[in-house]
Amino acid sequence: KEDLIVLGIETSCDDTAAAVVRGNGEILSQVVSSQADLLVKYGGVAPKMAEEAHSQAIDLVVKEALNKANLTERDLSAVAVTVGPGLSLCLRVGVAESSENCWSLQSAHCWCSPHGGSCFSSQHLDRKTQVNYYILLIERDLQFPFLALLISGGHNLLVLAHNLGHYTQLGTTIDDAIGEAFDKTAKWLGLDMRRSGGPAVEELALEGDAESVKFSTPMQQHKDCNFSYAGLKTQVRLAIESRNIDAKIPISSTSSQERNSRANVAASFQRVAVLHLEERCERAIGWALKIEPSIKHLVVSGGVASNKYVRTQLEQVVKKNSLQLVCPPPCLCTDNGVMVAWTGVEHFCVGRFDPPPPANEPEDFV
Ligand code: KG4
Repeated sequence: KEDLIVLGIETSCDDTAAAVVRGNGEILSQVVSSQADLLVKYGGVAPKMAEEAHSQAIDLVVKEALNKANLTERDLSAVAVTVGPGLSLCLRVGVAESSENCWSLQSAHCWCSPHGGSCFSSQHLDRKTQVNYYILLIERDLQFPFLALLISGGHNLLVLAHNLGHYTQLGTTIDDAIGEAFDKTAKWLGLDMRRSGGPAVEELALEGDAESVKFSTPMQQHKDCNFSYAGLKTQVRLAIESRNIDAKIPISSTSSQERNSRANVAASFQRVAVLHLEERCERAIGWALKIEPSIKHLVVSGGVASNKYVRTQLEQVVKKNSLQLVCPPPCLCTDNGVMVAWTGVEHFCVGRFDPPPPANEPEDFV
């Protein structure tokens, strides 16, 4: 496993990322090129613009990842790429790049997946649970089965992970994901979106009174593990309108009274958004323990997992149930190449890869 070297490529949304990982878990390099300026300009991810930005960045990002690892393409055992879910225009850029790397490596060891004629496929859920698994292999002694919560811009998922690639979904979002609710709240509050909305709301919430705006907790009448954030988003928008908060005036240019009003909305939103997570996780733990009584961990990943308030609150939920909370370091919570490369390593080790393309006949290989 130590000899295995995998390049991971990730372009599913707004970050162009690549990383090189060794089979023993060592991260040899990690490079991310973010589209922060575009996020500010368009107030969110604009797929066509994101695709162009990926196309401009991808060669350099991959080259830098190889340079930082002191490797050339010839040293790679395999290339792994995210094939979905994600924005299809953006995914295509990564898939094309990985195919190119595969072709240049024909005589070396690069494998293609059935998905889009590219390399290893790496599904979002798989990647995010894998990165947790990877960290735990290295840092602690995590074993399957475990309960996994994915909280990102596009997903809210509660999954019982029985084994590699064998998951039971316990809950999903029926409309918007929590990260989307953070992003819209940030936009409507006129916050600086350069690092995406979530961190900006988290920071402002520290100044506010979380009990001051009365938002109702979603899905109280649904005794399941699904999530819904569309209604909370609407509640936030109405609260912002009723306070005459003008998103066009950046928070940095407001009076201290106005700033305080915005901070109260941010803190109250965050409290209820996270309370919804807590309630669903509590129920999911009960369900999961009935199916797999040996689970010991709730593994939380996705961009929102880097939120400190989320971690503190979920810590309390797992403690009550005698489980442990496991979160990857914040830099691995958002989209990155490491989790893709590591998924590649895992798949490689259990033989889930396609054979190398036939030499000198690239046009015949689909
Ligand atoms: O997993 P991710 O990087 O990308 C995908 O959605 O696939 O997650 C991005 C989401 C964004 O909605 C962002 O606002 C949110 O994660 N996020 C946060 C924080 N950091 C990132 N939300 C709340 N608090 C944070 N500190």
